[in-house]
Amino acid sequence: MTLNEIAKKMCAKGKGILAADESTGTIAKRFKSINVENIEKNRLNFRQTLFNSSAMKDYIGGVILFDETIRQKTTLGPSIPELISKHGAVPGIKVDKGAKPLAGSNTETITEGLDGLRERLKEYYDLGARFTKWRAVYKISNEFPSAQSIKSNAHALARYAALVQEAKMVPIVEPEVLMEGSHNIDKCYQVTTAVLNECYNELKIHKVDLKGTVLKPNMIIPGSECKDKASAEEIAKKTLDCLKKNVPEDVPGIAFLSGGQSEVESSKNLNEINKINDSNFLITFSYGRGLQASALKEFGKNQENLENIQKAFNHRAKMNGLSSKGEWTEDSEKESAA
Ligand code: 13P
Repeated sequence: MTLNEIAKKMCAKGKGILAADESTGTIAKRFKSINVENIEKNRLNFRQTLFNSSAMKDYIGGVILFDETIRQKTTLGPSIPELISKHGAVPGIKVDKGAKPLAGSNTETITEGLDGLRERLKEYYDLGARFTKWRAVYKISNEFPSAQSIKSNAHALARYAALVQEAKMVPIVEPEVLMEGSHNIDKCYQVTTAVLNECYNELKIHKVDLKGTVLKPNMIIPGSECKDKASAEEIAKKTLDCLKKNVPEDVPGIAFLSGGQSEVESSKNLNEINKINDSNFLITFSYGRGLQASALKEFGKNQENLENIQKAFNHRAKMNGLSSKGEWTEDSEKESAA
């Protein structure tokens, strides 16, 4: 398959991406919230339960894994990447080494992980990965994000993407403008515009073939502490407008992060975007919390009750599958959950 074909498969209409690439530190926080011990056996149990659920074949085009997970063998027989491929989804891998303090800046970060990346990519390809993810993080405040943060993160994203294509995999380019803060929706629009422009500027300099990439952006939404709430219609209109103006047409797929929105909110907003999508972009989800929060709660209640865990996951996957076609409704939430 060409990189363009893989990108389109990951974002195919009715499907999206499951972001299950929480680092050991992040999954520790998730497990703490449900009182589950953060040990390898529990991490494997939760993830293989999701990857073996019936929703996989209908609604999931790709799964992003963490380094530990891509090397694991399931207790069901196949390895984790084999289990994912068996259900028709593409296995992928997070390859960045996290957001580290940016020298000379108070609280901003630079995402690291370029050293030795070429060698690591070869190993991940051999383990079955066909796409990768790298997440850059931008904070909004009166003084942030700084030019230093915008420029250095875009440069790293582009060097990453070029190496990934050299290794014959599709890079997910994830510049995440965080939702935390009291800024309004227009500030989010303005910052996201600056961030996307710098990213595509660097991707061009580094000769990345945009047809073989997927963009994973934030939606255009007000900060979590902003008093002026926005309707799903406004979020959709501003998000689509921002993407159409700042993302080159060669990019085949755009898969949003949920970024702290609730499960239903993230489905509703994605749905509104697809209802008015008049672009050629395949627009879908690449959710972590947006797909897993309910399933995680069930796992916390009883780790052995695979049926309930899978039921919760199947429901969210189906809802987001509908949203990726603009066919989600409040009623579909109730029908399918019942
Ligand atoms: P959330 O959907 O929980 O924001 O996670 C997506 C992700 O992969 C962030 O890097």
